[in-house]
Amino acid sequence: MSAVERRLLPDTAEISADGALSIGGVRVSDLAAEYGTPLFVYDEQHLRSRCRQAVAEFGADGVVYATKAFLCGAMARLAHEEGLLLDVATGGELFTAMAGGVPAGRCILHGNNKSMDELRYAVTSGVNHIIVDSFDELDRLDALHAEGLAAPHVQLRITPGVHAHTHEFVSTGQDDSKFGFNLANGDAVRAINRAKSSSSVVLAGIHCHIGSNVLNASLFTKASEVMVDLFRGLDLPEITLGGGLGVAYTAGDDAPTMKQWADAIRAATVSLPAGTKVRVEPGRSIVATAGVTVYTVGTVKKIDGIRNYIAVDGGMSDNPRPMMYGSPYEAFDPMRALADRPEHARIVGKHCESGDIVIDDAAVPANVAVGDLLVTPVTGAYGYSMASNYNKVPRPAVVFVADGAARLVVRRETYEDLVRQDV
Ligand code: LLP
Repeated sequence: MSAVERRLLPDTAEISADGALSIGGVRVSDLAAEYGTPLFVYDEQHLRSRCRQAVAEFGADGVVYATKAFLCGAMARLAHEEGLLLDVATGGELFTAMAGGVPAGRCILHGNNKSMDELRYAVTSGVNHIIVDSFDELDRLDALHAEGLAAPHVQLRITPGVHAHTHEFVSTGQDDSKFGFNLANGDAVRAINRAKSSSSVVLAGIHCHIGSNVLNASLFTKASEVMVDLFRGLDLPEITLGGGLGVAYTAGDDAPTMKQWADAIRAATVSLPAGTKVRVEPGRSIVATAGVTVYTVGTVKKIDGIRNYIAVDGGMSDNPRPMMYGSPYEAFDPMRALADRPEHARIVGKHCESGDIVIDDAAVPANVAVGDLLVTPVTGAYGYSMASNYNKVPRPAVVFVADGAARLVVRRETYEDLVRQDV
């Protein structure tokens, strides 16, 4: 296989004549030397340009960054600086966004099972609005109002009955879903009527999200049309049509662009009354390609006639996606990023499981050796955010690079961090 495709790398990635990869004007090998590996490296210019692109397509206040894709103080601030609202799906995400300096009024609380504490925290903090997911949640909001809390602005999450045709674990718009009010069985209309006549909430709109890593833009059109049909008779000011835009992870992948996504949404919402606020909630498409993971090879094992193994210093604890969804990735050596990748190996992590696979059958450059660096591109979404401490492996550091300089935005965990909660 030839060298990694340019489109899988962050915008500012450059490969010098000797094959060395830089991102944001900083050599990846220098970053590995300074901050250690595994390391998440984000191209700050790429992050900002994706935010700007989204705002250009969907308008000011039309874009809500889904923080679950990648959240730390620096990322929350960056999205806020670029004019995005923030989707926080738990009290913890709300806390993290606010700790990063984002006002609660720019945050929107999601979640299919919000607790009383989370709802109380969101309402007293003054979040922009809450996406209500169930009748039980409406009961809880009634109880909070009875406690004396102000009635929050809310949107109701509707399950429009559209299947996203992505991995089952990340499909959410179909009738058989834990999320939202079902449209087909009448729950959606019942919830709308209840919220409209309730004094515990101020109904501002309806919401849907059909799933994640959607690669077929016509599914967004379909879901949006169903939602627009429902919305038209409601006389409400806002509609949110979810995130879900997929990205290319490997050479074979083809994903719609931000513009194609926006075109699909625009076409489906063109008949809405003037002044209706239409919002979307991208996560992956903002951050995925902006980030790469840098590993160091620690063990190379060749089993003649069976398989070659390359073990890196991370694995399922910094990227559980291959294990959870069978997600494919590519890998290359950032010191010879232009080299062909004629050999095959299973790239594995350092965890005590055979399933701890980073790439099942990776094309790799010739003679990968202990001490070499390996980069897996397109790990900016749902990598760091789903990282764990399995096997008590400290979570990696995260650096942002821009204009020839790197800044540490999340330090590497230490062994002390691993026992900090022990009592
Ligand atoms: N809005 C809502 C209500 C969501 O639940 C999600 C993602 C998004 C927006 C953002 O979706 P995106 O634009 O990132 O596709 N861990 C999985 C993905 C789970 C997505 C959960 N919800 C993965 O690694 O593929």
